[in-house]
Amino acid sequence: MTDSAATRLETLVSLCKRRGFVFQSSEIYGGINAVYDFGPLGVRLRRRIRDAWWREIVDLRDDVEGVEAAILMNPTVWEASGHLTNFSDPLVDCLGKCHQRWRADQLEGPTCPNCGGPLSQPRQFNLMFKTFVGPVEDDSAVVYLRPETAQGMFVNFKNVVNSSRQRIPFGIAQIGRSFRNEISTGNFIFRLRELEMMEMEWFCQPGQDASWFEYWCEQRLSWHESLGLNRDHLRLRPHGENEKAHYALASSDIEYLYPWGWAELEGIARRGDYDLRRHQEVSGKDLQYTDPATNERYLPYVVEPALGVDRTFLALLLDAYAEEEVRGETRVVLHLKPSMAPFQVAVLPLQRKPELVELARQIEHQLRAQFSTDYDDTQSLGRRYRRQDEIGTPLAITIDFETLEDRAATIRDRDSMEQVRVSLDQLAAVCQERLGLAP
Ligand code: GAP
Repeated sequence: MTDSAATRLETLVSLCKRRGFVFQSSEIYGGINAVYDFGPLGVRLRRRIRDAWWREIVDLRDDVEGVEAAILMNPTVWEASGHLTNFSDPLVDCLGKCHQRWRADQLEGPTCPNCGGPLSQPRQFNLMFKTFVGPVEDDSAVVYLRPETAQGMFVNFKNVVNSSRQRIPFGIAQIGRSFRNEISTGNFIFRLRELEMMEMEWFCQPGQDASWFEYWCEQRLSWHESLGLNRDHLRLRPHGENEKAHYALASSDIEYLYPWGWAELEGIARRGDYDLRRHQEVSGKDLQYTDPATNERYLPYVVEPALGVDRTFLALLLDAYAEEEVRGETRVVLHLKPSMAPFQVAVLPLQRKPELVELARQIEHQLRAQFSTDYDDTQSLGRRYRRQDEIGTPLAITIDFETLEDRAATIRDRDSMEQVRVSLDQLAAVCQERLGLAP
């Protein structure tokens, strides 16, 4: 990574910590590599991401159902899905001074990038975390933490068909934690060992998956744009033959232009009937679908858009972050879309005087019904505006002494910094209009 790219990332990491978006997991004990905690504002942003995805994929459609499968599954699932054999990366050890481990497929030269020492032959390293069920830690008690949520949807395919009124083509969607014992981590929350995925398995007739694949690639790209990501920072890149996962007939990544270059944001794959066929073979259960019109029986083909909450979070913050010169000073702003901002409206009494505090609190309580609001009466007004800019709050309402007389308040716009005076009984309507939120 270039120095300026590293600085851009470090600046964001420091904002995330300072303002309560992201903390290192178990930081007081030195942390744990590639695992992060999300603070008060981070939780709000993650919730917005999940909600936006769920609304688009499930709520606004007739043809997708949701499930929440358990993280722990019968270990045979991973044998059938091919993850036990194939979900691995080639690992090499430095045989020189530093003994560091590397992913062989990500190295650019034949020697250790850290100390220049020789490297071992590559060996395959399975990325699934293992643990045990019950008190005896023997082979028969081994279970895995799921590395993708997808299998929870394949093994429930028949349950969903039998319990819902869905007919092919239709989808099953899920949001949940997954775990990957990644060899090479870094770049903040880009490559995590504990991550959250938003995945949808779209079941269709064999032969129709190629056109559904095109459809989902377009849908997903425009969804990322709808969150506010700059279109110039997004691209669709088809995978080469040697990049595809073991289950994929074809796949493409939606890539984002991170500070270190283009890299995966979302993966979209044509999984064919690979998963249902393998589960049918290994479980001995008939997983075919019967077309109610023709009585034709077949294993559906699958198209899968799969996205990480964490990568979306990172892309949104990187894209929204700006440093702007205002009257000789630099202000930091997150230009998040109002629908994604942790808070939409901040209410700030000019001073911490009882009469202002009481009215400001009252107004903030009223606005809570419609918007996500923050109340702040600490520090100078200028510092409070700066804080709200830094966390991306689109509107700040100031309650001053005049408000007590004229029953009006000042609304300040985060992006333009323009201020308008609005009567208290119009506040909610004006905020609604300025935020452009659906009523
Ligand atoms: N079921 C398909 C699947 O697992 P994937 O491309 O390996 O596909 C899907 O993962 C998405 O999950 C990625 O596009 C990325 O957004 C996210 N993701 C995968 N591994 C990740 C990791 N180690 N840390 C953070 N996000 C990750």
